[in-house]
Formats: sequence, structure tokens, C-alpha cells
Amino acid sequence: MSDNDRIVSGDSKDHDEELVEKSLRPQTLRQYIGQEQLKHELSVYIKAAKQREESLDHVLLYGPPGLGKTTLAMIIAREMGVNIKTTSGPAIEKPGDLVALLNELRPGDVLFIDEIHRLPKVVEEMLYSAMEDFYIDIVVGQGPTAHPVHFPLPPFTLIGATTRAGTLAPPLRDRFGIVEHMNYYEVADLQEIVKRTADIFGTTINEQAAHEIARRSRGTPRIANRLLKRIRDFAQVSGQAQIELPIVDHALTLLKVDDMGLDATDKKLLTTMIEIYNGGPVGLNTIAANIGEESDTIESMYEPYLLQIGFLKRTARGRTVTNRAYQHFKLKPLD
Ligand SMILES: Nc1ncnc2c1ncn2[C@@H]1O[C@H](COP(=O)(O)OP(=O)(O)OP(=O)(O)O)[C@@H](O)[C@H]1O
Ligand SMILES: [Mg+2]
Repeated sequence: MSDNDRIVSGDSKDHDEELVEKSLRPQTLRQYIGQEQLKHELSVYIKAAKQREESLDHVLLYGPPGLGKTTLAMIIAREMGVNIKTTSGPAIEKPGDLVALLNELRPGDVLFIDEIHRLPKVVEEMLYSAMEDFYIDIVVGQGPTAHPVHFPLPPFTLIGATTRAGTLAPPLRDRFGIVEHMNYYEVADLQEIVKRTADIFGTTINEQAAHEIARRSRGTPRIANRLLKRIRDFAQVSGQAQIELPIVDHALTLLKVDDMGLDATDKKLLTTMIEIYNGGPVGLNTIAANIGEESDTIESMYEPYLLQIGFLKRTARGRTVTNRAYQHFKLKPLD
């Protein structure tokens, strides 16, 4: 992926970015901007669990990358007043890895598994009893001395995050009492996020500029923060004390972020569908092969936003480009 693609993709973080994200993470539900419905529901569940002095039900968070799933998992642990252990699906390679993680949990603790759709099957199956009845059965020893051991666990909360809820096995999905879909953010909320981040960076930005960044961030806080960081560089180098609209526009043009916040890959995807397939319907794999991206990446990262803004439609026979997208690229449908 090129650097420009990365800016708008909402995905892939390097070490530096991890550090920046850490410093930007809101710590409490109150500081968490937007997602009002979700926050309200969670606050009720958290309060109820605390009143009953129980662990919070298992939580599944799903939605496109960069919307704040990891942030929310940390906030939940903090609001519950418990510790959180963080890991990811691909990092738990064998049942022993899961046992080691579960073994360290204290009553009420949160185990956060990012990319939970990528858990190995044997590990996933072990989670079923752990989630449902707080025990695991493990086989100890080898050969003739091998015997099963019943291993009780403290009550704990599993928080799973995934960009692809559809690929979770139903037995796993059904064991989450709280299932929340994360939606793209409203422009007004992103504008608040941009201003908050600017504040943390010690940068001044006016409302108009914050609004413009918000509008061109694909509804995604990670992208908004990333764009702000780059624009801040441009402002600094050109000797501007405050970030204003012209510098935002200048920087975003150079970064190939268009007026709707679409990047080079979005554009390639849509124009390929228009030019080669007359706007569709085209199958996902065909599109992927044509533009040299993984079908997975298109489905979890690019497509959801294009569907949301009404540039793409999903039909039984594949994806089609809408009139709105034709207009955006100043192209005319053939017939
Ligand atoms: N509601 C919010 N208010 C303020 N900042 C937010 C909010 N949501 C996310 N952010 C910021 O956006 C960045 C990305 O959030 P986070 O890492 O939690 O996303 P994610 O959904 O876990 O992404 P991924 O799917 O890639 O793991 C963080 O730096 C975080 O501070
Ligand atoms: Mg995350």
C-alpha cells in the first residue's frame, strides 16, 4: 500500500502511530465523542453490572477500522474498574496461549481480543465453555498419562472486536450478550474530535478548517487524526500559526484526498467498474482482481463507506455504481 493510500485507509498502524493514538485515546465514556446510542446503552449495562457486582456480559464490537473499537474496550474496562488484557485473534496460535491469558485474569477483568474473526478454530472452540460457564477442559500430559483437567475460571468479560461480523461462527457470535455495531461518525462529531486532537497537539485550528477535515475523513476518527497531523506539518512549514481552510485544501489535494474524502483506491474501484463493466453489476472478486486489492480489504474497508454515501449498491448479481458516483466523477452512464 502506498503512503497516500494508507492515509485514508483507516487501517494499518506503524509504531509511531500507535504511540500517537495512545496519547489521543479518550479515557472515559464521557470523553468519547459521538456514537451516542452506543454510549448510552453501554453506560446502562455497565451501571447495572456494577450494581449487581457482576462481571459485564461479553461484548462484541464490529465495524470498519479506525472507528474506536480498541478505545472503547479500554474505556469499558476503566469504567468497570477492572484490568484489561489485550491480544488479537492471530496472536493466539494454540490453546495453550489462551490458557495462559485466561489464567492471568482476576474476577471481573476484561480480555480484549482484536480481530476475533481470525482466531484459530481450536482456540475458538475452547472459548465456548470459557465464555458460557467460566471453565475450560484441558488435556494434561502426553501418551498413556494424558488426562483431562477441568479448569475453573474467574468470571470475566470478553470483548471481541472485528471488522467482519459476518465471518464469525454463529456459536461464537451467540455467546456475546452485548453486540454493538459501530457506525461511521457524523461530520459534527468528527469536527469535535479534530478540535480535541488539535488541542492535545497544541495546534490552533479554526472551525471552518476543522469542519473541512471532518467532512473529508470518511466518517473515521483515525483518518481525521491522521489528516490533521499531516496538515499541521504543512501549516507549520509555511509559517502559519493557525490551521485555516486554504492550507487544509492545499494539503488534502496533495494527499490525493478528494472533495468527498475519497482516496486513489476508491476512485480506481469506482472508475474501473464504470469504464470496464459499464457500472456493474460486478462480483467482488472480479473488482478485486481488476484493481489489485484483496477482496477482504475491499469488503471491510472500502465498500462500507461507498455504500454508506450511496456511491455503490449491492444487488443479488453483484455491486453496481450509482448515478451519484457517475456525477461525482463527471461521467455519464452509457444508456
Ligand atoms: N469517539 C472518539 N472520540 C475521540 N477519539 C476517538 C474516538 N474514536 C476513536 N478515536 C480516536 O481514533 C483513533 C482510532 O481508534 P481505535 O484504535 O480505537 O480504532 P479501532 O476501531 O480499534 O480500529 P481498528 O479496527 O483498526 O483496530 C484513536 O487514536 C482514538 O483516539
Ligand atoms: Mg483496534
